Amino acid sequence: MADPGLAASLDRLGTETAFEVLARARELEAQGRPIIHLEIGEPDFTTPRHIIEAGAQALLDGHTHYCPAPGLPVLREACAGHLSRHRGLPIEPNRVLVAPGAKPFLFFGVLATCDPGDEVIYPNPGFPIYESVIRWAGATPVPLPLVEERGFAFAADDLAERLTPRTRLVILNSPANPTGGIVPRELNVEIARVLAGHDCWILSDEVYSELLYDGEHDTIAAHEDLLDRTILLDGMSKTFAMTGWRLGYAAFPRELVEPVTRLIINSFSCTAPAVQLAGVAALTGPRDETDAFKEEFRRRRDAVVAGLNRIPGITCVMPQGAFYAFPNITGTGLRARELADRLLDEAGVAVLAGTSFGSYGEGYLRLSYANSLENIEAALAAMAGLLERAAA
Ligand SMILES: Cc1ncc(COP(=O)(O)O)c(C=O)c1O
Repeated sequence: MADPGLAASLDRLGTETAFEVLARARELEAQGRPIIHLEIGEPDFTTPRHIIEAGAQALLDGHTHYCPAPGLPVLREACAGHLSRHRGLPIEPNRVLVAPGAKPFLFFGVLATCDPGDEVIYPNPGFPIYESVIRWAGATPVPLPLVEERGFAFAADDLAERLTPRTRLVILNSPANPTGGIVPRELNVEIARVLAGHDCWILSDEVYSELLYDGEHDTIAAHEDLLDRTILLDGMSKTFAMTGWRLGYAAFPRELVEPVTRLIINSFSCTAPAVQLAGVAALTGPRDETDAFKEEFRRRRDAVVAGLNRIPGITCVMPQGAFYAFPNITGTGLRARELADRLLDEAGVAVLAGTSFGSYGEGYLRLSYANSLENIEAALAAMAGLLERAAA
């Protein structure tokens, strides 16, 4: 029989290279090759015990059924309370929706706001799912370059230049994947001034909001009256080492709550209630373990940046947040993809090419330092060795 064929729209759907590199690294491991994993963006810590216990207890208590599509009221309240306190904003629980991870809300945020032909401004290099879902929705991706000289930020003028009457959505991400850069308060003030005069939605991806090493997190939603058109996205994956639980949430502008709830009903129906109750424990419970995670990440960040800067041909700016280093590798004379491939094949170190995060990522690698200091030091030594051999 002839191949019945696939939907043409799938040609526009991208992917997240981290999962592909992880699969290749695992294949090599299965062949007996030791690999140091600096590719995947997830904390290597175990979820704090009180959170695991809350989830397990919820299952034992019978929370094994469907539940309300927008999320359990108790979690929506906890999220609203947390966002209000942490961001200094009045967020009502009925604006909060819950999903299995923050990712579905990137998808739904774009689907709910953009038609074919609309333009979406998004950071590049940036989380690859932005460009993928913009294209899939039939909208036009308009990259906003993040430049190393500005600490991987952009200038408000760069944003202003890209706004057109067709701009429907602006995606911001702070602290950022893959660069570790942030949008500081002063820049948000300027961005807000630019956006105040333009009628578009904003999606502020703040899943690393609590992995900020100096200073206070600042959200665009707190400026001008932008809260009313900002999707403020956060989740449990990064802050609480809960990537495998799949739990995210967002505060939506009022007009988007019902349409996005419909998207939830048409797709995953609801988020597992026991997982949601674990999320309540996360947001309302003790923070000593998550504070310790952050301090450990800080130690690793300092080590990885210092180590990278000692390797000839590589320079690395100090990331302000998240758990990624984004070294400039142009001095090695190699393209990002070639160096990433060779590091995996010849040195047993799995990293991502900057180009996995968009065209403006050429000349860079992304290293996730969510691995032990010992492994980080071994990876840096293997990288230095490979580059020495390549230069000889
Ligand atoms: C910038 C950014 N946004 C969103 C996500 C999605 O996180 P999750 O779906 O695990 O909540 C990630 C995960 O890597 C990310 O880096």
